[in-house]
Amino acid sequence: MTSPAGRSPLYKADWDYIDKTDLFAFTRADYAKLGRQREVYYRERQADAVLSLLTAGEHEPTFGYQVNNYQHCLQSATMLHAEGFDEETVVVGLLHDVGFLACPDRHGAFAAELLGGFVSDENYWMLRHHQAFATFVAADDEEPDRELPWHKWRGHPFAGWTSTFVNQFDQNAVDPSHPSLPLEFFESMVRRIFSRSPRPLRLDA
Ligand SMILES: [Fe+2]
Ligand SMILES: [Fe+2]
Repeated sequence: MTSPAGRSPLYKADWDYIDKTDLFAFTRADYAKLGRQREVYYRERQADAVLSLLTAGEHEPTFGYQVNNYQHCLQSATMLHAEGFDEETVVVGLLHDVGFLACPDRHGAFAAELLGGFVSDENYWMLRHHQAFATFVAADDEEPDRELPWHKWRGHPFAGWTSTFVNQFDQNAVDPSHPSLPLEFFESMVRRIFSRSPRPLRLDA
């Protein structure tokens, strides 16, 4: 039998551990204390955690695009900012592919759930579905108008914005000659979005 591991450090020196090793033993007072500390913890730490996810890919090689995912995200956000989009949408662009390395086939849902508590229904839907709108129709496709995955959402109130994002701020944001703003430019925006009061979890969207 190994000896028990030591406690992890508390985020704030004047905070208290819940001095029990089984959540079933937690009292209401314990949960109240945990809730108070949790609220501060996430308010001050969540944006950094999200930014770390993005910067983890800063020096990643690519599998064929001329820019890596980190540069693609910066390029998308830079283009949205240059077009005068609001701060939330710029941040949505910055983070739309944040899960691309770790969760490639479901990275839209990854980003949607990451941001879903802090952004509009329209941006949540766009994040979730943008993969399907990225059609990857070859420029020399002989049948470009064939039935594509996103066609089933024609007429959906958020399909227009999703299509606009993918066509104007995503599929064209893989240009190594495009000047992108540095991540530092967007950091305070990310912090402001994640400092919003999170909306309830939406599992039925
Ligand atoms: Fe994507
Ligand atoms: Fe993308």
